[in-house]
Amino acid sequence: MDRYVICGGERLSGQVKISGAKNAVLPILAGTLMTKNAVLKNVPNLSDVSYTVEILENLGMNITIENDKMNIINSGIVNTVLPTELCSKMRSSILLMGGMLASAGEVTIPYPGGCSLGSRPIDIHLKAVEKMGVEIAESSKGIYCKVRNLQGTKIKLPFPSVGATENIMLAGVLAKGETTISNCAIEPEIVDLAKFLNSIGAKISGAGTDTIVIKGVNELGGCCHRVIPDRIEAGTFMIAVAGAGGNVKIQDVIPEQLRPVISKLKEADVEVKEDENSVTVCSDGFIANTDIKTMPYPGFPTDMQAQFMGLMCGGLGTGIINETVFENRFMQVPEFIKMGADITIEGRCAVVKGVEKMKGAKVRATDLRAGAGLVITGLSAEGVTEITDIHYIDRGYENFDGKLRGIGADIIRINEQAVQ
Ligand code: EPZ
Repeated sequence: MDRYVICGGERLSGQVKISGAKNAVLPILAGTLMTKNAVLKNVPNLSDVSYTVEILENLGMNITIENDKMNIINSGIVNTVLPTELCSKMRSSILLMGGMLASAGEVTIPYPGGCSLGSRPIDIHLKAVEKMGVEIAESSKGIYCKVRNLQGTKIKLPFPSVGATENIMLAGVLAKGETTISNCAIEPEIVDLAKFLNSIGAKISGAGTDTIVIKGVNELGGCCHRVIPDRIEAGTFMIAVAGAGGNVKIQDVIPEQLRPVISKLKEADVEVKEDENSVTVCSDGFIANTDIKTMPYPGFPTDMQAQFMGLMCGGLGTGIINETVFENRFMQVPEFIKMGADITIEGRCAVVKGVEKMKGAKVRATDLRAGAGLVITGLSAEGVTEITDIHYIDRGYENFDGKLRGIGADIIRINEQAVQ
């Protein structure tokens, strides 16, 4: 297993370019199941993308990748059982359900790998497609879904689930009649998925609002689509600069999508300047702790919670983090405590008392964003921090250590095989 070794204390400067959004490209890849061919640009080089490509190839798709450009040819689905091994590596394989039901009329999905963010149920997804005329049965291989008659209908979500919204959009594109999703997710990645689907001939309106309407069509064509920038990667770099101190221009971002992160950083006495498609963060490395409450978009993103916690560990004063989206998203706390943090958990709240100086230590990434949070703390901690299990970080950050070195961080990646 690879690890990072970070020597804290270096200020950051220069500029860094953000890659395409993981949480946009994954549902869009599910959407390519319904096309004959599609070209995707600004595709990030991430392990979650590689796993999804492997699954799509297992289903019969032909995919070629050249840098950040992906060419997808779909000459017909040859298999409707999703591979267990690959699906167990990432929960987002559930997003393939909607695309498979619309294109192949059936799919067998391995029981979704839970993950350290809690049980990650898929009840909202299943109830929705059942209402659209899908028969669901449990089998030894997983959940078997069979289209009786894919019929548009009205669906009100109990919670604005991002994945469930995306699955219903995908299933609704080729359903008979009209599907309305109310209380749906309004994340920018939902809007990008709708843009991609409409560009291949779907008829989706309302994406970005709390009600989406999908008018079923009979056939779809091909397209070329550029994936939006990754707002969570951008936010991660903004927080890294805030904690380490320095002055960095973060390019290929959509500032409007970073509103809650920008306002929280300004509350923490960090300077943020916005341009059309970049933000510049300037910090002396001293931040004033503030309170965070994670919410569905446009609230403060749960995917930025661990990173902000990493910043607050060495901040001035006390801040309370209220994690309202996932029931178990504080797995990173014991690792921060190994570095000297003063954090107490009370239910879904974490009380973070800033300490004078965090200390380098040997820690492990417990999940994707927790790993990013540990890197952020390591950049400003005294001494050397070693982070293991960084395969989690590879799921959502392209060339993370390379980009950080490019703005002055003292971080290296050690490949365990090479060391032995
Ligand atoms: C998406 O996950 C993102 N993943 C997550 O990003 C992100 O944290 C999350 O949305 C919230 O913004 C992708 O887009 C690939 P949800 P998803 O359905 O779709 C409960 C990252 O770090 N729920 O909005 O799984 C669920 O347990 C990842 O990039 C049900 O109860 O999120 C959770 O508490 C992590 N039943 C809440 O809803 C269901 O059927 C939010 O889940 C579905 C969800």
